Amino acid sequence: MPTQPSLQHVEIALGDRSYRIGIGAGLLDDPLTYAAAPKAAAALIVTNTTVAPLYAARLKTALSGKYPALHTVVLPDGESYKTWQTLNLIFDALLGHGCDRKTVLYALGGGVIGDMTGFAAASYMRGVPFVQVPTTLLAQVDSSVGGKTGINHPLGKNMIGAFYQPQLVVCDIDTFKTLPERELSAGLAEVIKYGPIADPAFLDWIEANLDALRARDPAALACAVRRCCEIKAWVVGQDERESGLRAILNFGHTFGHAIEAGLGYGAWLHGEAVGCGMVMAARLSQRLGLVDDAFVQRLTTLVARAGLPVKAPWLDAGDNAGRYLALMRVDKKAEGGEIKFVVIDGMGQASVRGAPDALVREIIDGACA
Ligand code: NAD
Ligand code: GLY
Repeated sequence: MPTQPSLQHVEIALGDRSYRIGIGAGLLDDPLTYAAAPKAAAALIVTNTTVAPLYAARLKTALSGKYPALHTVVLPDGESYKTWQTLNLIFDALLGHGCDRKTVLYALGGGVIGDMTGFAAASYMRGVPFVQVPTTLLAQVDSSVGGKTGINHPLGKNMIGAFYQPQLVVCDIDTFKTLPERELSAGLAEVIKYGPIADPAFLDWIEANLDALRARDPAALACAVRRCCEIKAWVVGQDERESGLRAILNFGHTFGHAIEAGLGYGAWLHGEAVGCGMVMAARLSQRLGLVDDAFVQRLTTLVARAGLPVKAPWLDAGDNAGRYLALMRVDKKAEGGEIKFVVIDGMGQASVRGAPDALVREIIDGACA
């Protein structure tokens, strides 16, 4: 029998909003896992049609001794449902069950469920506690940590939301056993991201362990989740509300969000768009004279090895680059209509800056070729 990685913890240090991330195997079913979550008369598990049959009953059993009333709301699955209408189903459930302002929400699923549950928690009765139980690689290494919550708007990705921290994050790596291959690859995009922006040694480690990660080796996966959470904790601990440093976590996202919105949410997975977006942002960094071509080739190879697209999609049969530019102007980092990109200034260092439209057009044309 393979050895299971032992339980590890990463702390998010944010004063009275601090919390702990538990990382390990077999956590989901263990009532002790949730000891740090607030007690209350009721809890609501928010999940979706794919994750509910896999894990909802198990989470319910684990929480049954803690909450006298335990409800579940099952949302439709997919990025295209990250909307006001779906969010309202959570409020319908909370109000329908007569949930008070101490009710604890449990987000059981990937980043879509986590972002929507967090936003519901931020706004129901002006704020109720919530716990993240992420079940995708992407959610464990990124979206469940740091308190960004929200929904999409047809005109822009994640445009409506709030900063609102969970009380606890539970990363059970056993949940990866049921994750489709394509979703695992999407999560690897966010894993790879942390190397160039913050930790060159981690990039080396990912290159050496990518096959083990794709083969779902538990020790490799636990190690990746822990290191990503440590880096995110370091960033968020310094800049919770993205007044500066935190923007580096958006490496690849300016191009990526344009791909997601331009193709229609869900056509490409978020991680796929980020993977391709990182290749484009790396090329932009090189053209700005910040990194060499070897870095771009290295990143492109790694993204492709992760099973992610490295060629960008066409968003418009006419002025394709113009369509990208229009979509990128709606990005949250844009200021006064100027598009901002996270660029790599050298291995392990990133910053945010603008670039001339003509150069960005060249990058897009090159990536779509
Ligand atoms: P997702 O939530 O859509 O989950 C991917 C798919 O896997 C879904 O079909 C889901 O039902 C299914 N699934 C989840 N867990 C499973 C499991 N264990 N076994 C089988 N199937 C499972 O996508 P995601 O990649 O987890 O998250 C992407 C979302 O996260 C995007 O909306 C993105 O904007 C957001 N995001 C937010 C942040 C943040 O800081 N808040 C950071 C990165 C991404
Ligand atoms: N995923 C980007 C952030 O949390 O800031």
